[in-house]
Amino acid sequence: MTSKIVKLLEIQTIYILFRIFEQNYIQIKIQIMFKKITILSLMFIVLINSYLRADEGMWIPLLLQKYNIEDMQKKGFKLTAEDIYSINQASMKDAVMIFDGGCTAELISDKGLIITNHHCGFSQIQDHSSLENDYLTDGFWAASHDEELPNKGLTVTFLVRMEDVTAQVLAGVADDGEESVRQAAIDKNIEKIKEEAVKGTHYQAKVKAFFYGNQYFLFVQEEFLDVRFVGAPPSAIGKFGGDTDNWMWPRHTGDFSLFRIYADKDNKPAEYSENNVPFTPKKHFTISMKGTQPGDFTMVFGYPGNTEEYLTSYAVDMIQTKINPYRIEIRQTSIDLMLADMEKSPAVRIQYADKHASVSNAWKKWIGENNGLKRLDAVNVKKQREATLTQWINQDETRKQKYAYILPEFEKIYADYAQYSFAEEYFYEAIWRMESVKMATRMRYLVEKGSEFKPEDVEKIRTSAKNFFKDYNLETDKKIFKALLSLYVTNVDKRFQPEFSTFVKSKYLDLSDPKKLDAYVDFYFEKTFFLHEDQLMKFFDTYAKADYKKLENAPAYQFYTNFMNMYVAQIMPVVKSYDQKIANLNRFYMRALMEADSAKIFYPDANFTLRVTYGKVADYEPKDGIKYKHYTTVDGIIEKDNPDIYDYRVPQRLKDLYAAKDYGDYAENGELHTCFIATNHTTGGNSGSPVLNANGELIGVNFDRCWEGTMSDIMYDPAQCRNISLDIRYALFLIDKFAGASYLLDEMIIVK
Ligand code: ARG
Ligand code: ASP
Repeated sequence: MTSKIVKLLEIQTIYILFRIFEQNYIQIKIQIMFKKITILSLMFIVLINSYLRADEGMWIPLLLQKYNIEDMQKKGFKLTAEDIYSINQASMKDAVMIFDGGCTAELISDKGLIITNHHCGFSQIQDHSSLENDYLTDGFWAASHDEELPNKGLTVTFLVRMEDVTAQVLAGVADDGEESVRQAAIDKNIEKIKEEAVKGTHYQAKVKAFFYGNQYFLFVQEEFLDVRFVGAPPSAIGKFGGDTDNWMWPRHTGDFSLFRIYADKDNKPAEYSENNVPFTPKKHFTISMKGTQPGDFTMVFGYPGNTEEYLTSYAVDMIQTKINPYRIEIRQTSIDLMLADMEKSPAVRIQYADKHASVSNAWKKWIGENNGLKRLDAVNVKKQREATLTQWINQDETRKQKYAYILPEFEKIYADYAQYSFAEEYFYEAIWRMESVKMATRMRYLVEKGSEFKPEDVEKIRTSAKNFFKDYNLETDKKIFKALLSLYVTNVDKRFQPEFSTFVKSKYLDLSDPKKLDAYVDFYFEKTFFLHEDQLMKFFDTYAKADYKKLENAPAYQFYTNFMNMYVAQIMPVVKSYDQKIANLNRFYMRALMEADSAKIFYPDANFTLRVTYGKVADYEPKDGIKYKHYTTVDGIIEKDNPDIYDYRVPQRLKDLYAAKDYGDYAENGELHTCFIATNHTTGGNSGSPVLNANGELIGVNFDRCWEGTMSDIMYDPAQCRNISLDIRYALFLIDKFAGASYLLDEMIIVK
């Protein structure tokens, strides 16, 4: 029932009351004060609870009838819970799917046509692109089913049904005890449940833990294997604003692409075949041209990947002060070096475009996340919550026995765990992600085969190496390697550094000395022959029995294995053992939180299962004195137009349509809307999700969040957390007016 805003208000109340007490010099014993404050804030909560509900929460479709539908309808939703999720009739869930294992997509025609983000279909679009047919640059529109392009490995996955299987999963499993033993028993039960759930069908089953293992749900899924590329705008539209605008509002990205699901003649999933036909779905979304007004009900239905809303103050503090700042610094370093080289050379720009996008996506999110956590004073908010909980625990002997140890134990664990977690993150960010190290992992395949290799093994690695070199610039890698290694040597405790003397020659040995580091890096890149395409290809041409030793002896290989061994010996086991302890504590901590607040309806953290989040279209104030409107228009694209800035080059055709104001029916009061924002609580994986209005009609496609609200994965703030969606009318305009592919609109149901 209540949610984070109530918690925030509760804590703010405590703060304010504290201050009032202090100002009035009222001397009161802390115990009594706490009691009073709790009573006061409880009264306050009851009061505000009835009319103030934040739009926080990622809700379980199966439980909407029980927990949410009344609230949804109060906020404007006109349909029923059965319209969203039902196993008896076609419902919205039959039109929503996992796209490519990491995004969401939805059906928009009865011929299997689906829409998702441009950034979700990016690798498929890139795969089909060549210099002759550069769909990334020019866009692509299949003029008929025959022109739709198959995609190896691309799948979409529907939810057939879900079920609470907590009792079966936990049958015969001790509540406490050794976590790994417990997990093994749980896994055994899960295997049985899954087997039974899909017996005699072509479905797949998954069982996932909710609320840190306090609840389990079974998901029966249907996966389609023939998904073809139908259309996408040029990147200058689909990725307009690029990394400059990423995670930001105001935004003007036409972030969509179209695909089509194919099935066999019985409408069942099948591997790609020429004989397959467009899939006939049970349900697809009607598209609404009505647009959005502030305050309008919106619902996002999709697959949020991962959130951590119930972390303790210790965990949040660790992320905020010990993990994020270093992650940000490391990525900032490599982004700067990458960008400098990309600016100098168009070839490097293409080679590093995708790497730059993925490195900078998380980098920018973490910066936003840390700013948000700081602004919300998240650690203290959590501390206050923990104080209230402790109070509740101490009120009762049984509670004390069950829960009193948890928070002190967390504190103790995080005091030590943080250094290992830091080392692991640093290793992952600074060493593991290095390109030369990634190349060494490829070579490991051949080293492990040793003299027993087969010629196919060599060919396999040759192909993979060719792919690597297509997007590799040794000079760029070298600069990044030097900078990151230097950061590692400086910032990471000696215990978490490999014994350099075993693989670095004594003349370079002191890597904290810039001259020696320089010399080592020169040596590393010169002597690692597998980082030079010509040398490696020649080496493969004559590859013989003992040649794997040459791979093993290369400096990059030595570097990789020594770092790996250190990680496996010094970091991994400790992290793993702490993770298990933390998992155990989290389970009981979550239970205590829920018990202490039994009137509140909790939502489980995202775990890449289908969820409903609902809220309203709303503007926001990112800073004092600034207010952001809830929508953007194509005028903003023209404002940003700048041929000198790669991210802001506007295609001529769009400029022409703009000049002629040739917007067809897609404009509203003469303005062509591009994107809009709402209060829906979303996260990574929600990209491509349908954004629906009160009638369940498609008004947008979700693709991002506003920067000021990216801490929503840890703490949601109703004032600043906004999801960003593509206005569906902009997509229709692009398909119809820009691309001249209006035949695609013929298969959609579009209502005014
Ligand atoms: N920030 C969005 C998400 O997390 C979009 C990322 C794709 N765009 C980019 N410029 N890297 O996935
Ligand atoms: N852009 C994200 C995605 O790709 C969505 C988000 O993090 O808000 O799923």
